[in-house]
Amino acid sequence: MATVTDDQAPQALLMQLLDPACRADPYPSYNRIRELGPLHLPESNLTVFSSFADCDEVLRHPSTRSDRTNSTITQRQLEAESGPRPRGPASFLFLDPPDHTRLRRLVSKAFVPKVVKALEPDIAALVDGLLDDMEKAGASGSVDVIADLAYPLPVAVICRLLGVPVEDEPKFSHASGLLAASLDPFLALTGHTSDLFDEQMKAGIWLNDYLRDLIDARRTAPGADLMSALIAVEESGDQLTEDEIVATCNLLLIAGHETTVNLIANATLAMLRHPSQWARLGADASRVAAIIEETMRYDPPVQLVGRIAGEDMTIGDITIPAGDTMLLLLAAAHRDPAANERPEEFDPARESIRHIGFGKGAHFCLGAPLARLEASVALSAVTARFPNARLAADPVYKANLTLRGMSTLSVVI
Ligand code: HEM
Repeated sequence: MATVTDDQAPQALLMQLLDPACRADPYPSYNRIRELGPLHLPESNLTVFSSFADCDEVLRHPSTRSDRTNSTITQRQLEAESGPRPRGPASFLFLDPPDHTRLRRLVSKAFVPKVVKALEPDIAALVDGLLDDMEKAGASGSVDVIADLAYPLPVAVICRLLGVPVEDEPKFSHASGLLAASLDPFLALTGHTSDLFDEQMKAGIWLNDYLRDLIDARRTAPGADLMSALIAVEESGDQLTEDEIVATCNLLLIAGHETTVNLIANATLAMLRHPSQWARLGADASRVAAIIEETMRYDPPVQLVGRIAGEDMTIGDITIPAGDTMLLLLAAAHRDPAANERPEEFDPARESIRHIGFGKGAHFCLGAPLARLEASVALSAVTARFPNARLAADPVYKANLTLRGMSTLSVVI
């Protein structure tokens, strides 16, 4: 175990992770952090876990909580800050039982594998259309895999599922980006700028108002979408409130915007850097599941998650006091040699691929079947359509750490 009083280096490594220059390849920093063992910062009420076994144990531990409102760090922030705040409850990602259980159950029907599988023809048609446009654009130079495929596909799918008009997308993509950035936890350590914080709060308020207006419209003209289904449940009894519908749609919209894009893009990048993988997938679509799982391990779209100690708890030889925050560096855990042999190699054919990139336990990603389906259709189609694709330039990364991803991935097709 490392403590800052012993050595300032571990905290400096964490700061390094924040540096945008580190975003293209954070893995050497993750490895060094993991080799130092859990980083316990009692004066910051924070412990950072990075081995596979520790992250796995925290996710399964009965004393961990996801509701941050009572964490020591949040309480301190609330005392220090004023200004606008979105009203209403948090999404169920940040709730604990019984509210988490109730809300998750209401939404989960829309994401079970059978229902998701039925979306496949629509997803395939969307992918074909995007690849047709790419082919035309590629005739006169490079294409951008993010703007041309990886982003528009999941956005179109989640908008359709929720019943949000895709034409409104330019309006809420900005808000979604700001809210995704607000998930970065080290802001609590470094002290974020109040300008950015205000912008994020305003984006949250704007998106909630946008969703409220849409809910009003759906009340009078329901559609065959998830938002209308949730409204029907609300109107039929006391199972959920309008505020909870807003928070749930907000969560799904952001999850649909900011995660699958990075799975498609990260897999594309890994294969272009390992051209034999690109060629093999193009020739044999049955390899796609292994490509997806290995990308989830090797370069996961969600790099870390947070938890709160609901009561005093012990992980290894560390006692975490109730209220303290725990950060689980999933991306570091996946490169733990105790969990995966040759962890630095991108090898979809490895015997077993151990990852917790969709989380574990009560909060396991609801969208995992959808993300896997979208990625499998997109990746098998893009490799088959453009067998000679190659990287045109180094990719450019966004600043986000938690939902790490590229802003541009230029490819010659
Ligand atoms: C490759 C893409 C995706 C990745 C890597 C991913 C990853 C994750 C992870 C790690 C969690 C657990 C967070 C935690 O334990 O604190 C999670 C939860 C969740 N994800 Fe995803 N996700 C992806 C796509 C999606 C999509 C497309 C949707 C839906 C549109 C979605 C909806 C959710 C929801 C609703 C939760 C909260 C579950 C709960 O709290 O019970 N995700 N996701």
